[in-house]
Amino acid sequence: MILVTGATGNVGRLVVDHLLAAGATDVRALTNHPERAKLPPEVDVVRGYLGAVETLPAALEGVERMYLAPLETTVREVTGLAAKAGVQHVVDLAGPKDSWWGPIEVAVEESGVAWTHLEAGEFMDNTLSWADQIRTTGQVRDAYPGSANAMIALDDIAAAAAVCLTQDGHTGRAYELTGPESLTRAEKVRLIGEALGREVPYVELSHAEAVEELRPSMGEYAQWYVDGMADLVAHPQRALPTFRELTGRPGTTFAEWARRNVELFR
Ligand SMILES: NC(=O)c1ccc[n+]([C@@H]2O[C@H](COP(=O)([O-])OP(=O)(O)OC[C@H]3O[C@@H](n4cnc5c(N)ncnc54)[C@H](OP(=O)(O)O)[C@@H]3O)[C@@H](O)[C@H]2O)c1
Repeated sequence: MILVTGATGNVGRLVVDHLLAAGATDVRALTNHPERAKLPPEVDVVRGYLGAVETLPAALEGVERMYLAPLETTVREVTGLAAKAGVQHVVDLAGPKDSWWGPIEVAVEESGVAWTHLEAGEFMDNTLSWADQIRTTGQVRDAYPGSANAMIALDDIAAAAAVCLTQDGHTGRAYELTGPESLTRAEKVRLIGEALGREVPYVELSHAEAVEELRPSMGEYAQWYVDGMADLVAHPQRALPTFRELTGRPGTTFAEWARRNVELFR
């Protein structure tokens, strides 16, 4: 039995699909909202959430492997319960030890259960933060058009998780996952424009202006996010071959992602 936690979530729901596509027959999904998750009928559904640890013992019964969604607050209790229930392998979505997500990796390792860490870079879906302004003004107002990183599609994170859960040889490994190419913010906006069939101008803001624009949606993290953008001008994130090595296929390009999600920008 493979348990997928956060199964209504953006990544978890896709992990369920990739597990089934890989031929897994015993898949259990932990979700607060089975009706929203629209899970395939062959999936065993348990109602619950990683934050409500009392829902975990029933979900963990008979489970051999699990996908762990990133929730730091209860990760120690959850991984302790997993160890007690006899889970043999946890595949977590987290991040390097010195990152925001590091405490999740530490707790998983200290539980004593065999692990695989998926350290995903920024998600392509984060560019949906431009969707409102593209829809309403036809342009993007943002800082640092030359800031470059190798964003990854959520579906590729899920595909990588399914490989680690269904194939041997991945325990004790931390996989840093990126998309297949490093692109600047200006290039991403250009590709969204291509998908839309029109040019989307990039109106460059100063650092301080960008922080102010982001503050309503990101609060205290706006400053941190814009500082990160500035850093990626001088030190662009490189694309890594990890996804291709794990899955045997190239990762989703930003152009493909933009075409697939174009209606959200129209
Ligand atoms: N590099 C990165 O950007 C990076 C790296 C690692 C992780 N992450 C994080 O990874 C996550 C991926 O998103 P995801 O949607 O797959 O997973 P998620 O945010 O962990 O959410 C999964 C599910 O958990 C439940 N849930 C979450 N918060 C809840 C709350 N406060 N109360 C009750 N239930 C709650 C919801 O289930 P129901 O729908 O069933 O209620 C949700 O669908 C994001 O949070 C992202 O920030 C990002």
